[in-house]
Amino acid sequence: MKTKVKMGFFGAGKMAEGILAAAAQLKDFDPSTVFMAEKVPARAAELEKKYGVRTTHDARAVAQTAPLIFLAVRPQDLAALAAEVKPFLTARTLVVSIAAGKSLATLKKALGKEVRLVRVMPNLALRAKEGMCAICPAKNATPADVRKVAKILNAAGRTVVLPERNFDAVTALSGSGPAFFAYMEQAMAAGGEALGLPADAARLLAEQTMLGTAAYLRQSGADLEAFISGVATPGGTTAAGMDVMRASDFTTIVARTLKAAADRSAELGK
Ligand SMILES: NC(=O)c1ccc[n+]([C@@H]2O[C@H](COP(=O)([O-])OP(=O)(O)OC[C@H]3O[C@@H](n4cnc5c(N)ncnc54)[C@H](OP(=O)(O)O)[C@@H]3O)[C@@H](O)[C@H]2O)c1
Repeated sequence: MKTKVKMGFFGAGKMAEGILAAAAQLKDFDPSTVFMAEKVPARAAELEKKYGVRTTHDARAVAQTAPLIFLAVRPQDLAALAAEVKPFLTARTLVVSIAAGKSLATLKKALGKEVRLVRVMPNLALRAKEGMCAICPAKNATPADVRKVAKILNAAGRTVVLPERNFDAVTALSGSGPAFFAYMEQAMAAGGEALGLPADAARLLAEQTMLGTAAYLRQSGADLEAFISGVATPGGTTAAGMDVMRASDFTTIVARTLKAAADRSAELGK
């Protein structure tokens, strides 16, 4: 191989591409140092062409050469992948797993106790570079490992380091969260349509309002309750709507939604 491999991938699917696209924005990024193992030849060819990375169908080749590897195969493919690559993974390799529900203990068992491990729970918004990733290092991962992983993932959105016991909650809130917010958007757009707005305008109004509210809250750091009271002036339109929301089961329903998702995450992780 011409250039030294710096970053590897097991699996080059949707999430792997999101991470790659983020890494590609970093100043010191050189695509010829990226080596991706992908089973689907057309997919490998697509990413080679789009990013200038190197690919292989053989995950063992990546395990043998890359010091940092993102494990981005589907959870049900972990066992088969691990059987291939385990003999080549040593303490010099850092594996960053994004496989949903696969605990550090499971990963250690599958990949060997030598390899340094970091578990990450990302979300789909990573593909729009607005992802939310929770990071949990295994005991044998170093602070420098965590900094390196965070640097890459911060280029794809935001990161937070959390203990693994929080991962079912993270899975519910930010992992499944995009579907919950999309459901809210759908409800807002439907409500707008019911008031006579054209469907495409209703969707735009709902979506831009969701995006703009999040952007404003992030920028201002405003206290949420103070923000709501500030918008909802007494006797005004927002207050009339908020009265309906506050009198409903909305908060309970959201809490129950997250609890169901977290419980399911715990079940799947067993
Ligand atoms: N999508 C999300 O919103 C999301 C959120 C959080 C976490 N995650 C996690 O992210 C991971 C990746 O998800 P994804 O949506 O990116 O999946 P994906 O698009 O299906 O990509 C996985 C790719 O890996 C390939 N692959 C499987 N085994 C391989 C092996 N041994 N060697 C080389 N390539 C292999 C697959 O090929 P084949 O199709 O031929 O098997 C597929 O192209 C999953 O573990 C998931 O739990 C996803």
